[in-house]
Amino acid sequence: MTRADAGIAIRTAGLSREFGSVRAVDDLTIDVSAGTIYGFLGPNGAGKTTTIRLLLGLLEPSAGEASVLGQDVRKGSQAIREQAGVLLESDGLYTRLTAMQNLDYFGRIARLPTSDREGRIRDLLTAMDLWDRRDGRVADFSKGMRQKLALVRAFLSRPKLLFLDEPTSGLDTPSAVALRRQLVTLARDEGVTVFLTTHNLLEAEKVCDRVAVIRRGSLLAEGSPREIHGGRARRVAIGGTGFTADLAARVARLPAVETATLEPARDTGRDQTRILVDLEPGTDASSSVRLLVEAGAEVASVETARESLEDIFLKLVEEEEAEAELEATEPSP
Ligand SMILES: Nc1ncnc2c1ncn2[C@@H]1O[C@H](COP(=O)(O)OP(=O)(O)OP(=O)(O)O)[C@@H](O)[C@H]1O
Ligand SMILES: [Mg+2]
Repeated sequence: MTRADAGIAIRTAGLSREFGSVRAVDDLTIDVSAGTIYGFLGPNGAGKTTTIRLLLGLLEPSAGEASVLGQDVRKGSQAIREQAGVLLESDGLYTRLTAMQNLDYFGRIARLPTSDREGRIRDLLTAMDLWDRRDGRVADFSKGMRQKLALVRAFLSRPKLLFLDEPTSGLDTPSAVALRRQLVTLARDEGVTVFLTTHNLLEAEKVCDRVAVIRRGSLLAEGSPREIHGGRARRVAIGGTGFTADLAARVARLPAVETATLEPARDTGRDQTRILVDLEPGTDASSSVRLLVEAGAEVASVETARESLEDIFLKLVEEEEAEAELEATEPSP
C-alpha cells in the first residue's frame, strides 16, 4: 500500500469471484476506512460470505485486487488472518468446554501472555454480561449467549480489524439489540475496524458508519446511511377527501414531485384517501397541497414518512432488476 492508503483498512478494486457460471462477487470496488464500522448489506446469496472469504485469503479471486491491512490477499493471507478477528457462520466454540475454558484456550493460541489473558477475558466477558456465566458449559448456553461469547473470542487478541458474518442472525430482537449495542461500544472503545455483513437493514442503519448494498455480487449503492437516504426522494403521505386518480396524476407532474400515487381508502366506511408523494430531493409538499386544495379537495393531514433503508433497498433491487430485464431484451449484436 502507498502512504495515501494509510487510513484504509480494506481496499478492493474490481474484485470478482465466480463459481462455475455463478458470479458470487462481481467487480467489487470499495474502500473501508480504518476505525469505521462498515456494513455489507444484501439478501441471501448476494455474495457477502464469499467476499469475507476472499478478504481473508480463504478463496482465490477470479479477477481484481484486494488488500487488507496493507496486505495483498493473494500473498499475505497468513498475515491478514493473524491480525484480523473473525466471526463466521460457524462460531468454532467447543461446546463441552466452559466459556472460560474456551477463551483461555483461544487466548493461548493467540499467544496472549497469561497475565494479560486473564484480565482481557474478564474485561470482555464483563462487557458482554457473561462474567457470571463464565463457568457454564457452552452446550448449555442460549443462542444469544453463545453468539456473545463468539464475539468475545473474536475481540480477544485485540485485532485491528474484525470480520463479522451476520453476527445477530438467529437471535431474537432483544438479544440482537443487546449484542449490537455491546458490539458498537467495544468497537469504539478499542478503535477496531469492523466489516459486518447483514441482511437486516435496520441493523445496518443503526450500527454502521458506511454501508455497501450488494445484490448478486454487484454493488448497488455505497455511502453513509444518511447519504444513501439523502440522494433519494422523500416520501410524504397527504390524507384527505376528494382525491382522485386524475388529481394524483396532476400532482405527479409538479416539478417538486417525482411520483404520486393514489392509495385507496383502507377501511370501508371511511372516505379518506391518501396520495403518496415522492418528493424530489430538497423540495417540500407545499405545491402538492396547494394544487389539491385549489382543485377542491380537502386536505386533512400531511405526514412525512422518512424512507427507511429498507424501502431504498427494495427500490435499488427493483431498479437493478428492471435494468437487467432491459439488457436481456436488447437484441444481441
Ligand atoms: N463454494 C461454493 N461453490 C459454489 N457456489 C458457491 C460457493 N460459495 C458460494 N457460492 C454461491 O455464490 C453465491 C453467493 O454466496 P454467499 O454465500 O457469498 O452469499 P451470502 O450473501 O453470504 O448469502 P447468505 O445471506 O445466505 O449467507 C451464491 O449463489 C452461492 O450459491
Ligand atoms: Mg453468508
